[in-house]
Amino acid sequence: MNLILMGLPGAGKGTQAEKISTEFGIPHISTGDMFRLAIKEETPLGNKAKGYMDKGELVPDEVTIGIVEDRLKKGDCAKGFLLDGFPRTIAQAEALQTLLTNLNKNIDHVLHIDVPEEKLVERLTGRRVCPTCGATYHVIYNPPKTEGVCDRDGSQLIQRKDDSPETVKNRLAVNLEQMQPLLDFYKDRGYLETIDGDRDINEVFKDVRNLIEK
Ligand code: AP5
Ligand code: ZN
Repeated sequence: MNLILMGLPGAGKGTQAEKISTEFGIPHISTGDMFRLAIKEETPLGNKAKGYMDKGELVPDEVTIGIVEDRLKKGDCAKGFLLDGFPRTIAQAEALQTLLTNLNKNIDHVLHIDVPEEKLVERLTGRRVCPTCGATYHVIYNPPKTEGVCDRDGSQLIQRKDDSPETVKNRLAVNLEQMQPLLDFYKDRGYLETIDGDRDINEVFKDVRNLIEK
């Protein structure tokens, strides 16, 4: 099963991706997570990505396409994959088509999680993440059992640097501009399926699962 998850920042891609990956046993490939890990480890990739991410800008296509290409060639993608946050530009979508053709793979579904723009600021500024295991919470919609503490490992939760109100504004603007042409790209090719993401996390997942199993 080869899937692409699309949606604006805060739409719930990461939240749904974790559930899909567990339920269907396919690797969750998030370009955002790959960049954040590289920044934490201060690798050359991290140094390239940091300035763009801190401002809420997109990392240049050639850098992003390169890391996805390397990742999709790994053995665990033989059983399928779930792309989260990629592609994000038409150039990335075209590069992905070429890459998949070369690897003799197809896309099965492109799932677009649709959430009204005005709800996204609250989701992003209320997000808290675990620096140890990467789990995502929300102060209101998905709180941990103990305030500020990860349920899984007891770590103190933190806020992502790009979830500050100023950066969130820019991220939404940048992504809004890129999103529609990309939705059209997949709609024209008959892949696009849209899910109402403005509901409870488990309700959204029911629809996701139904579409994947269809
Ligand atoms: P990335 O990490 O991909 O961030 P994003 O697209 O901005 O998406 P988010 O992770 O912010 O949101 P999400 O949709 O995963 O929502 P989540 O599930 O966490 O990218 C970060 C940066 O990396 C980019 O700005 C760019 O610089 C760079 N980058 C990455 N990919 C790139 C690419 N392809 N090209 C170029 N640059 C790239 O949910 C959000 C919050 O809402 C959480 O608190 C969650 O608990 C809550 N929530 C989730 N679902 C629900 C629900 N149904 N109801 C209520 N609350 C919910
Ligand atoms: Zn944790």
